[in-house]
Amino acid sequence: MSQSPNCVTTPPWWQLVNWIADPIGFQKKYSQKYGDIFSIRLTGIGPFVIIGNPQAIQEIFSKDSQFHIGRANKLAEPLIGKNSLMLMDGDYHRRERKLLTPPFHGEKIQAYAQKIIDVTEEIANRWQIGESFIVRSTMQKVSLEIILQVVFGLSEGKRYKQIKPLLTDWLDMTDSPLRSSMLFFKFLQKDWGKWTPWGRMKQIHNKIYNLLQAEIEEKRTKIDNTGKDILSLMMAVRDEDGQAMSDAELKDELITILFAGHETTATTLSWAFYEIYRNPDVIEKLQREFYCLGENPSPMEIAKLPYLTAVCQETLRMYPVIPVTFPRIAKSPIKIAGYQFDAETTFMPSIYLVHYQEDLYPEPEQFKPQRFLERQYSPSEFFPFGGGSRRCLGYALALLEMKLVLATVISKYQLALAEDKPVKIQRRGFTLAPTGGVKVVMKGKS
Ligand code: HEM
Repeated sequence: MSQSPNCVTTPPWWQLVNWIADPIGFQKKYSQKYGDIFSIRLTGIGPFVIIGNPQAIQEIFSKDSQFHIGRANKLAEPLIGKNSLMLMDGDYHRRERKLLTPPFHGEKIQAYAQKIIDVTEEIANRWQIGESFIVRSTMQKVSLEIILQVVFGLSEGKRYKQIKPLLTDWLDMTDSPLRSSMLFFKFLQKDWGKWTPWGRMKQIHNKIYNLLQAEIEEKRTKIDNTGKDILSLMMAVRDEDGQAMSDAELKDELITILFAGHETTATTLSWAFYEIYRNPDVIEKLQREFYCLGENPSPMEIAKLPYLTAVCQETLRMYPVIPVTFPRIAKSPIKIAGYQFDAETTFMPSIYLVHYQEDLYPEPEQFKPQRFLERQYSPSEFFPFGGGSRRCLGYALALLEMKLVLATVISKYQLALAEDKPVKIQRRGFTLAPTGGVKVVMKGKS
């Protein structure tokens, strides 16, 4: 074996342009040329080792304490604030994860299930027969409403009305490869007032933070505010020293959850609808499964359905909206996959490359939910939510939301793709979305 993996040799500025414009094409091209481990160099961001090999990824996930991960996420700091879990490392990260994990698991998540169904029905009820609409924008409305109600605890009132359009504007600021560039190029991060993209983003950001501060202060004055939403749970939680989260932490974490959870779930749902409506046998199987549950099944019965689960897994396999995990920077010299790497080497496990490996997923370009019913995949063979100490905090909520939104729409509304042309992948901020957002037409109600 050679001393170090092959290195992409095109100029680093050109690699950066390609990485921003077409991260999938870029990874595909060089993995075909160099195999499943290779190095890239992105101007202004740094060199990275892309890893598309499950054994090497398992090594990385099991050695997560040997990497700086928060530091490697620095690029996102202007968006999510310096107190964000995503930017923390070591003991700070462990403490914050411990504080944030309970509201996102088990019984707590189940309590939000009915809200997810209600929000979906409320939005879907506005669809008219014969009307066409863009699934991604609709799913963004669904997912934003769910985050507002379930996480922020906001469903009505003046503050809700003020914050909703601000959050939508803020999230839309990186809705194309060009607009996403400001996340990658420092020189575009200049605040010259509201007429510059960065200045406008900062301005919206400040308004959101002021509204969140007001919400936290109001919640604090309420006598019984336990357990109704994730923010209240976050405010009630204490660390081993009896310390609560500070207001600055609470605000940065709320924005982190919105940033990490809104676009990802909405976009994955758009991909799911795209594949479901392209494959009549998939809709048929789903409808049969829903029918077998009888009338008014409980949300948790829906969430346990095996074929629905497999459809969600196959969507997450084919369309990992975050195509690489967070970067991992080696704290000291480290051996991975038999190669010796220096301290400060930055690794990027590629979800996309692994999810398209022929030996794991025969005919990887085909949407085949069945494969998940026939085979169990290990945490480094199927990892749309990343892994190790950084595995997505909101994965249980995301999966529940996907299943309940799909089940509600498919069992009650008849939709069809409005256009015959294949949909391509386009960058939106740090995620990969369908170009055009997937247009569908409403055919009827069941
Ligand atoms: C389909 C939807 C989603 C996908 C595909 C997704 C994917 C990911 C991935 C790949 C990571 C990085 C993990 C790593 O580097 O090992 C991550 C981290 C994270 N996700 Fe998600 N996510 C989704 C939904 C959500 C939701 C709904 C929330 C919150 C409500 C959320 C909150 C987070 C947070 C806070 C982190 C950072 C964890 C840490 O640094 O410890 N995500 N997610």
